[in-house]
Amino acid sequence: MTAEPLEQETSEASSHAQDREPAVNASDDFIRRLPKAELHIHIEGSFEPELMFEIARRNGVRIPYDSVEAVRAAYEFEDLQSFLDIYYQGMGVLLEERDFYDLTMAYLRRVSGDGVVHAEIFFDPQGHTERGVAFETVLNGICNALRDGERQLGITSRLIMCFLRHLDEDDALRTLDQAMPFRDRIAGVGLDSSEVGHPPRKFQRAFARAREAGFRAVAHAGEEGPPAYVEEALDLLRVARIDHGNRALESMALVRRLAAERIPLTVCPLSNLKLCVVTDLREHPLTRMLDAGLMATVNSDDPAYFGGYVLDNFVAARDALGLSAEDIVTLARNSITASWADAGRKERWLAGIDAIASEPAD
Ligand code: HPA
Ligand code: ZN
Repeated sequence: MTAEPLEQETSEASSHAQDREPAVNASDDFIRRLPKAELHIHIEGSFEPELMFEIARRNGVRIPYDSVEAVRAAYEFEDLQSFLDIYYQGMGVLLEERDFYDLTMAYLRRVSGDGVVHAEIFFDPQGHTERGVAFETVLNGICNALRDGERQLGITSRLIMCFLRHLDEDDALRTLDQAMPFRDRIAGVGLDSSEVGHPPRKFQRAFARAREAGFRAVAHAGEEGPPAYVEEALDLLRVARIDHGNRALESMALVRRLAAERIPLTVCPLSNLKLCVVTDLREHPLTRMLDAGLMATVNSDDPAYFGGYVLDNFVAARDALGLSAEDIVTLARNSITASWADAGRKERWLAGIDAIASEPAD
């Protein structure tokens, strides 16, 4: 990779769908068959309205909507905050261990037919503990489902505990203390919720302590926040991946660094469309990221709210951006490479991708 073509590619704001080589078609079935890791999925964001009603009923909790259709109709967002308000309201019906189990199991069942072989799942403990639900209740429900999901569906997983960045760092530190007895069940820490006005530097101590305790680190950055937030996540929080990272493209120096250091970006096309990070999927920066040599991956973020699981995100991005079969294979390979799965499994999945990619076209 050289600096010049990279500069040329990334400085252009327009869609690249038209400029790219004619795509060798990647069918839906081709994409489905490729082993894929999902690296950016908030488990509370996979809460489908049908399950929400069922759990609300059994817990005796009122939902301010009359029907599943009315809930779905409320999913019109103008930015991240307008989504988060509804997202926190939705998770308010989750009270018992069984609720977290059912939520997690429903996600795993839903994606197992889509070729997801490994999932790295975010959860928001503070969204539950602040309502009086015990940390252990949340963790047990999710982890029991992850264990059964691996046994029954063959999907391996890692769990990532996110700090809510609109709360203060002391709250994050208390949450980290609560997680310490369960270090073996939580692979990493993340940072989510309202980005602008809550820069990564606010959580430097919490991330330092988490890393000292052996947690890996990731952070949402550059979804709505500026490129400087991506730099802070790298330099101050020392994250291994950036969640979203769209606005990193505004800084040429940062793009070069992300490419040189092979920092994975967990990109979420349908989320970006629903939260108005892009106004049209044809303008989504995914192709510019690939053209710049960045290790981009495709993910669903909050699939129940944004209208699609990971396969839907691949298909929507292919259609809007004219992604070729080669692009799709790169994205699937990146998802495996950027994951924290066991090395032996990663090698087997990558070999599986290569075998599918080299099948003769019919
Ligand atoms: N961004 C920030 N916080 C979140 C998101 C997101 O896309 N989804 C759930 N929490
Ligand atoms: Zn997210």
